[in-house]
Amino acid sequence: MGKENTYLVTVWIILANICASFSSTPEQTLFGNNNSTEWLEDYTDIVSKFSLRTAEVPDDDLCYIVPGQPLTIPKCEFNSETQTFVVIHGWTVTGLFESWVPKLVTALYEREPKANVIVVDWLTRAQQHYPTSAAYTKLVGRDVAKFVNWLQKTLDYPWERIHLLGYSLGAHVAGIAGLLTNHKVSRITGLDPAGPTFEHADTQSTLSPDDALFVDVLHTNTRGSPDRSIGIQRPVGHVDIYPNGGTFQPGCDLQNTMMMIATTGIHNMDQIVKCSHERSIHLFIDSLVNAAEHQSMAYRCSSKEAFMKGMCLNCRKNRCNKVGYGVNKVRLPRSTKMYLKTREMMPFKLFHYQVKVHFFSSEKLDYTEQPMKISLYGTHDEKTDIPYIMPFLNTNSTVSFLLTTDVDIGELLMVKLRWEKDAYFSWSDWWGNSNFHIRKMRVKAGEIQSKVIFSAKDGEFAYLVRGKDDAVFVKSKEDNMSRKEKTMHRLKMQGSLFKKNTA
Ligand SMILES: *[C@@H]1O[C@H](CO)[C@@H](O)[C@H](O)[C@H]1NC(C)=O
Ligand SMILES: *[C@@H]1O[C@H](CO)[C@@H](O)[C@H](O)[C@H]1NC(C)=O
Ligand SMILES: *[C@@H]1O[C@H](CO)[C@@H](O)[C@H](O)[C@H]1NC(C)=O
Ligand SMILES: *[C@@H]1O[C@H](CO)[C@@H](O)[C@H](O)[C@H]1NC(C)=O
Repeated sequence: MGKENTYLVTVWIILANICASFSSTPEQTLFGNNNSTEWLEDYTDIVSKFSLRTAEVPDDDLCYIVPGQPLTIPKCEFNSETQTFVVIHGWTVTGLFESWVPKLVTALYEREPKANVIVVDWLTRAQQHYPTSAAYTKLVGRDVAKFVNWLQKTLDYPWERIHLLGYSLGAHVAGIAGLLTNHKVSRITGLDPAGPTFEHADTQSTLSPDDALFVDVLHTNTRGSPDRSIGIQRPVGHVDIYPNGGTFQPGCDLQNTMMMIATTGIHNMDQIVKCSHERSIHLFIDSLVNAAEHQSMAYRCSSKEAFMKGMCLNCRKNRCNKVGYGVNKVRLPRSTKMYLKTREMMPFKLFHYQVKVHFFSSEKLDYTEQPMKISLYGTHDEKTDIPYIMPFLNTNSTVSFLLTTDVDIGELLMVKLRWEKDAYFSWSDWWGNSNFHIRKMRVKAGEIQSKVIFSAKDGEFAYLVRGKDDAVFVKSKEDNMSRKEKTMHRLKMQGSLFKKNTA
């Protein structure tokens, strides 16, 4: 991972921006010069097409609903009794629908079998030079707004059943559409909204929290300086989730993607560049199809760095939320950045733990970048030898870090910590005994919101010696009950004693 990929991303951006001066920018008469909204009822200039796809044929456009032609609604078997998803694609080099479209359609029907899934086709405008296509988002947004207004008016269809989902440039299309509809739509989901030309644009030109009653956003490819990032970096919704920090996604490094290309036979370099960008869609699909068993959680945090220290695994006052379709529609005055770590493939869910340890030593020891292996044992399962590079390891200091597992280990029972020898010969191992002692380990589990204190299994302290055995910690006997449980327990005991006495 690293250099090559950065290079490809740069090429993509350069390609995207190339010839901006040659391309004709479409006229931008979004709001016109008068206050009339009559233009919204002129359907003759609509270029975008609206295809009602079916669960049976998710990959083909068999029936278009045409604004101004009410008979096309029953012809396409639009079900006015259920909700409607409007899926909006982004920029496309090939001028074809990308392979994620039928996957998302299928997942939406899997979750909501009776719903209407409408795919917007603005391919002709989406295959221009990037700046041209970016400027077209206004006209496409207008088309979508006209379509939604017309459909709603024709059927007296409830606004709260309309959910727009837009990927990349399509997220801004959804935002502009939401701004222009006669009433706010229920929800807009922005899937890695495009960054170039939008990062510093005003709220009328981009997706923003004003565009729907609830706007949720997944940011998955926001690497580099704000001007070059493929995905928009700033929050643009009510809930903005940055999986894996939002910059770059696991499994999307060059090596992995080349392997994928080799095994799937897709000969498209574009895939490499798009992997992290498109991950936003696959995370949403995951939330549609895997919610019952593998609902991912995200946590509000002031920064990615604080999150990586495990300091934000708190669920009080809406500080955590479900990722994707099942998100709780929390509308706070300020947009909130939320974080989580994910697996590199579906199901993406990981379990998050904060581990806090205090390292005692009689000597003054200072280390950086120390390789550790941590093992967690719980009531359901265990996860052993989770690697963690400890950035700093100093005498009499406390360390807090984030640890994740892909299995649900349940309630924690035991923790082991091992200090690996690093790859290089170290003089300190030769001369001294690099050893710390640890009295307690504190582990907070994000998904089950439990906090457990572990004490050394044998004696008051456990010893952590480089290259030696694990330091073992077990659940503190006095700490395995919460305060409430202790009170209940005491009351029960007293109750039974009382009964005994009266018997
Ligand atoms: C003002 O609204 C009318 C419709 O009432 C429309 O025909 C006209 O083009 C609009 N003017 C501009 C400048 O958009
Ligand atoms: C247009 O709207 C603005 C404010 O919304 C208002 O001040 C102005 O009088 C309106 N103009 C016309 C011609 O209705
Ligand atoms: C670390 O703290 C312990 C206990 O407070 C103390 O005995 C020890 O001397 C300290 N170590 C150093 C190097 O200051
Ligand atoms: C706490 O731990 C003790 C000893 O391990 C056990 O007997 C007791 O049942 C535990 N209590 C709870 C509430 O888990």
